[in-house]
This record gives sequence, C-alpha cells and structure tokens, in this order.
Amino acid sequence: MLRTPKFESTQLVKTKNFILIGAMGAGKSTVGRRLAKRLRIQFYDSDKIMEERTGVNIPTVFEYEGESGFRAREEKIISDLCQLEDIVLATGGGAILSKNTRKKLSAAGTVFYLKASVGTLLNRTKNDANRPLLKTNNRRQVVSALLKKREPLYQEAANYIITTDRRTTNWTVNQIIKYVEQI
Ligand code: S3P
Repeated sequence: MLRTPKFESTQLVKTKNFILIGAMGAGKSTVGRRLAKRLRIQFYDSDKIMEERTGVNIPTVFEYEGESGFRAREEKIISDLCQLEDIVLATGGGAILSKNTRKKLSAAGTVFYLKASVGTLLNRTKNDANRPLLKTNNRRQVVSALLKKREPLYQEAANYIITTDRRTTNWTVNQIIKYVEQI
C-alpha cells in the first residue's frame, strides 16, 4: 500500500506493518501468526499483550474492570504496538470501536479486514470460553448485533477486505501476500 508521507516530501512511502482486524472468530490470530512466520517478522496479538501486561486472562480483565476498563487498556496497547515497524498485528474484534485506534491503525500499516459471516463466526467460536462477550444464551443474536454495529467501522478502517468463509488459513495468508506483492 502506498501512502502519502506525513513529512514534507512528494515521494510515496511503503508502510511495513500488516494489521488484521475483524470479528471474534474471523481468524486474525491464526492467520497473523502464520503470516508473520512466512514473512519472517514479529507477530503481536493485542489480547495476548494485555494478558502479559496484566498477568490475568481477558475474562478476568472484564470481570474486574468491565468492558470500559478493557477498552482503555486495549487502546493503550494498540497505540504502543503502532510504534513498532515490520510487524504483523492481530487486534481484538472490538478495537476498531475507538476512533483514535482506527486512525492509529491506518497510519501504522496496511489494514486487512478478515470478514466472515455470522454462521462462520459462531462455528469458529463455539468451544471458546475466553471471550466474555460470548458468554450468553443467545450467541447468534449477540454476534449478529456486534457485526451489524461494527461492520461499517471495519470497512472504514480496512485497506483490503478478505472474506474467509470456507477458506483455510493458508489461503488467507496467500491472499495477503499476493496483495503485498502488488504494492
Ligand atoms: C472482543 C474480541 C476479543 C477480545 C475481547 C473482546 C470484541 O478478541 O478482544 O474478548 O469486543 O469483539 P478476538 O477478536 O481476538 O476474539
């Protein structure tokens, strides 16, 4: 992706970070890890960094600090990670709710939205106990509502949209690499 630099120059610069956004179960962490390996660069997952920094898992952060506390931590972590170069960054599904984060992500690299249908997301998260927002009796309704609210934000933040329904991790990684080769 070519971008106009913020500095005084007419030359275009290439951003080097690969940023993955999308809903819970879209495959950001799995794809991100594999992509980083293929590109031989570092992989970061904002949720994992939060667990490292707090020493507890994500449900515990929600339990003690609520969603707003979680979001404040998430925003800070992503802001810190956006300072790095040559990385693949997988963000939490709700990270794009923050306008500030959306701006930082766009400035920090090429943003790939891994898109998936409600059915796919439900299927991929069905055995998961680590996502507090999915601790509900009506997961379909919750996932649909989250997606409805967030879809425009994912679209707004994305440079590329990749639909991952029925796709393997390798296929998605190859798509991203193909885009990169066109840059
Ligand atoms: C969330 C998504 C999760 C995690 C937290 C909240 C969300 O990340 O950040 O449970 O609001 O969609 P994944 O998208 O990696 O599951």
